[in-house]
Amino acid sequence: MDTKTLIGPFKQLVTMRGLPHKGPLTDPQLEIIEDAGMVVREGYILQIGKFSELYPLIKNGHYLLDIINEPVVAFPGFIDAHTHICWAGSRANDYAMRVSGKSYLEIASSGGGIIDTVKKTRQASHENLLASLKKRADQQFISGITTSEVKSGYGLTVEDEIKMLEVIRLADSSLAIDLIPTCLAAHIKPKDFSGTKAEYLEHIINNLFPILKEKKLTNRIDIFVEESAFSIEEAKIYLKEARQQNFDIVVHADQFTTGGSKLAVDYKAISADHLEASSDKEIQMLAKSDVIPLVLPGSSIGLGYQFAPARKLLNAGASLAIASDWNPGSAPMGDLLVQAAILGIYEKLTLAETFAGITYRAAAALGLNDRGIIETGYSADIAAFPIENYQDILYYQGRIKPSAIWKKGIRTTI
Ligand code: NIG
Ligand code: FE
Repeated sequence: MDTKTLIGPFKQLVTMRGLPHKGPLTDPQLEIIEDAGMVVREGYILQIGKFSELYPLIKNGHYLLDIINEPVVAFPGFIDAHTHICWAGSRANDYAMRVSGKSYLEIASSGGGIIDTVKKTRQASHENLLASLKKRADQQFISGITTSEVKSGYGLTVEDEIKMLEVIRLADSSLAIDLIPTCLAAHIKPKDFSGTKAEYLEHIINNLFPILKEKKLTNRIDIFVEESAFSIEEAKIYLKEARQQNFDIVVHADQFTTGGSKLAVDYKAISADHLEASSDKEIQMLAKSDVIPLVLPGSSIGLGYQFAPARKLLNAGASLAIASDWNPGSAPMGDLLVQAAILGIYEKLTLAETFAGITYRAAAALGLNDRGIIETGYSADIAAFPIENYQDILYYQGRIKPSAIWKKGIRTTI
C-alpha cells in the first residue's frame, strides 16, 4: 500500500537546499520554512511545505500522521564524514601526558599512541568491539548524526583490518544510523611487520584489496600521509593502485607537514582531511580542484593545536566539510556539533557555512547524493531540536541536543 506519513508541524525547517557546493555562504541564503510539514513515503521525502497547506491532503489518501507536540527546529540529519569510532581501550593516559607537556614521541615511547590502540583492538573480541562501536554510534545518533563514516586502521594486519570492517558492517546493519566504512590499513606501519613501509603497503595492496572487493567490505581507501606514517613517495604507489582498482580515495593530509593535499589533488581524492598545516599554496590548489577539504576541529581541540584554515579555504572558493575525527588519541570528545560551533567562532564561519559543513557538503565528501538536504527525493533523515530559532544551535555552541530524530522517516524520540 502506498502509505504516506505527514510529519509536523516544525516551527522552522532549515532545508539547506539550493546552495552551492563550493565557496562562502551567507545566512540569508538559508531557506527556512516556518510552520512546516513534510510528507514521507518509504523513507524518502515526497513533499515539504507549510503544515497548514499539507494537512488537508490527509483526507485524500492513505496518510499516517506524525504530530510534533512542541516547537522544534529541524535540520537535515547531520553527517560525520571522518571518524575512527571502532576501537578498543582508552588513551586517557596519553591525554594526561599531553596536557603535562609530553611530546608525541615521548608518549609513543612510553607505550601510548596509535600502536597502543592497535594492540587493544587486536585483542578485543568481535562482541566487545561491536558493543563499544554501537555505543559510540548511538551517542552520535542521539546528537542528530544520521550518517557517519567509520575507518578501520587499528588492525593493521589483513585479518584484523577485515575484523574491524566486518564489525563496522554488523553495527551498521543493526542500528538506525548509517555507517559508511573506509579502509585505513595505511594508518601507520605496524611494529610487527618486518619489512619496510613500502613493503607493508604492497602487502596490503596484494592481500587486503582483493578481499575488500570480494567481501564488499568498503569502496573507500584512506592513507595517513605524514612523516610519522607514510611518505609522499610511498603514498603515491598506494593511491595509484587504489585508483586503478576504482576505489574512492581519501587522504589524511597536511596535519603537521604539507604534501598530502597535493597527492589528494593529483590522485583525484574525494576529500583531503585535516589540513591544519596547509598554507596559501595548498589552499589555492584545493580550491581549484574538485577535492573537498574536510576539517577536523575535534583533533585540534584534542591536541591543543591550530585549526585548519577553514575561512581561507572558503574565501578561495573551496568547499568545506567539518567532521569529528572521533578517535581515542587525538580527538576523544566525539561531539561534532560542539566542535563545529567552536571552529565557527574561531574561524569566523557563518552559521550557513557551519551547517553546510555537517550536512550536504559532508554528504558530498562521502559521495552520497541522497542526503544532507531536506528536499523531495532525499532520504527523510531529520534532526529536530527543542528551540524556536535555528541560530540557537550554534549560539549555544552545540550544547542543545535534539529531542527527536527521524531516520528514513522513522522517528526516535529522545
Ligand atoms: O586522524 N592522524 C592520524 N590518525 C588519527 C589519530 C588516530 C589516533 O591517534 O588513534 C587522526 O587524528
Ligand atoms: Fe583521522
